[in-house]
Amino acid sequence: MTPVSEMLAAMLAQADFHARLPRQRRLYEAAKAAIYQNRLAAGSKLPSSRDLAADLGIARNTVIAAFEQLAAEGYVVSAAGSGTYVANVKAMAPAHDAGAEPADIRMLPPAMLSRRGAELTQFAAGARYEIQPFAPGDPDFSSFPVKQWQRLQNRVWREGRADLLDYGQSGGYLPLRQAITEYLRLSRSVSVSVDQVLITSGTQQSLDLCAQLLADAGDTAWVEDPCYWGARRVFQARDLHLHPVTVDEDGMALDADDLATVPRLIYVTPSHQYPTGAVMSLARRRALLEAAARKNAWILEDDYDSEFRYSGRPLASLQGLDGGNRVVYMGTFSKVLYPGIKVGYLVAPPALVEPFKSALYDLQRPGQMMVQATLADFIALGHFTTHVRKLRQIYGARRELLRRTLQKHLGRHAGELATISRQESGLHLVVELPDWADDAALHALAREAGLAVNALSAYYLAPPVRKGLLAGYAYVTEEKIKRYGKVLATLIRDNL
Ligand SMILES: Cc1ncc(COP(=O)(O)O)c(C=O)c1O
Repeated sequence: MTPVSEMLAAMLAQADFHARLPRQRRLYEAAKAAIYQNRLAAGSKLPSSRDLAADLGIARNTVIAAFEQLAAEGYVVSAAGSGTYVANVKAMAPAHDAGAEPADIRMLPPAMLSRRGAELTQFAAGARYEIQPFAPGDPDFSSFPVKQWQRLQNRVWREGRADLLDYGQSGGYLPLRQAITEYLRLSRSVSVSVDQVLITSGTQQSLDLCAQLLADAGDTAWVEDPCYWGARRVFQARDLHLHPVTVDEDGMALDADDLATVPRLIYVTPSHQYPTGAVMSLARRRALLEAAARKNAWILEDDYDSEFRYSGRPLASLQGLDGGNRVVYMGTFSKVLYPGIKVGYLVAPPALVEPFKSALYDLQRPGQMMVQATLADFIALGHFTTHVRKLRQIYGARRELLRRTLQKHLGRHAGELATISRQESGLHLVVELPDWADDAALHALAREAGLAVNALSAYYLAPPVRKGLLAGYAYVTEEKIKRYGKVLATLIRDNL
């Protein structure tokens, strides 16, 4: 074995060295780390792919793929016929792919990230390598009707419409906006005309547009506490001051201290509060609309998963109650179809329609008209309704199974120390724990056991009022719900 092979083998032998990544990526990470640490100096020669593969006991193709990636990113250079050499990384910009470095060698100069950048990246909520049981919010995209979609998409491409290859104009593809308008009027009691609907690349972008167009740096945004991370990050990135408003079982609960502040934006998930699942009561809705009118603030209503209500009547939107003048309503196809589709919509109050359309175009240059056209057909032909109905049944059954499994294995703790939320909608349950429980520690233990639950306290801006664990059930098969549900319940029972 060459010394280089030995060093790389030792790094790869560490069980926690990028444990979840595929072999080729681990080897790439090991070589890159060695280069940054100067253990592989500039100009030194790497073993041949054949020798290294033999030394490490892995396939030669794996080594070749890792070398190719290192070469593509400039970490090594290959000289035809003579081998692969380490490049001079000191000459490279320090920002080069810094995000992938293990923490100990992340030698970023302090000024590299802005203050905002450092704040936004300290909390790696987005890092995810694979779907694991109970990840909250993940929809079951494996049941997406790929064949049907493909047929519709092929048809759109066959029509050969050049206009669909252009940027999206006027808020997006008209037939899709018409289909959404009809759906929102009928199913969500949204007060809307086609003109008010803008197609965005999802709620994240809808929120960002609102933050850019309706508030200035330093302005205050009231956010629910606990709050959806995605929204929080967008507002922080736009330098808004976040004012947390406590959520109880009736939703956002404004008190005198809150009312003493002056928000420009108010972010709410009234149909199904994320993450607690609270439904905002009618009295609270009225009080919120009244407060917003008095403060001259815009309400941003994120209606992210109303399609998944398993019993009772669907709740009308807050926007409909207001008549649509002060509320920007937003929805997404991330949950109902698949997250990577990156299609969402916002309903702008009449006064904001033109500014939003022009800003959407100027700031984002929207596109994906082929996808929008396919989606319009998918809805018009009834596939959307069928798919939602099917998912609702699957999720409803999984939710019930998870509840029963947890209850069974929590034993006498159920209802006493650990209460399972009785939410009738959404993609996750909350196992509520006593105030004194350390839900972050339970979360860490669950992660070690391969469960992707989240701690409720992690969603708070102010000191957490409630403790608990969020367990998603939508993308977990029934067999896994039984198996891992038992693991989760046992873990809670044994560590409370
Ligand atoms: C509260 C909430 N809003 C919105 C979204 C999705 O938004 P997007 O359309 O950006 O995927 C999520 C996804 O997890 C969510 O939890």
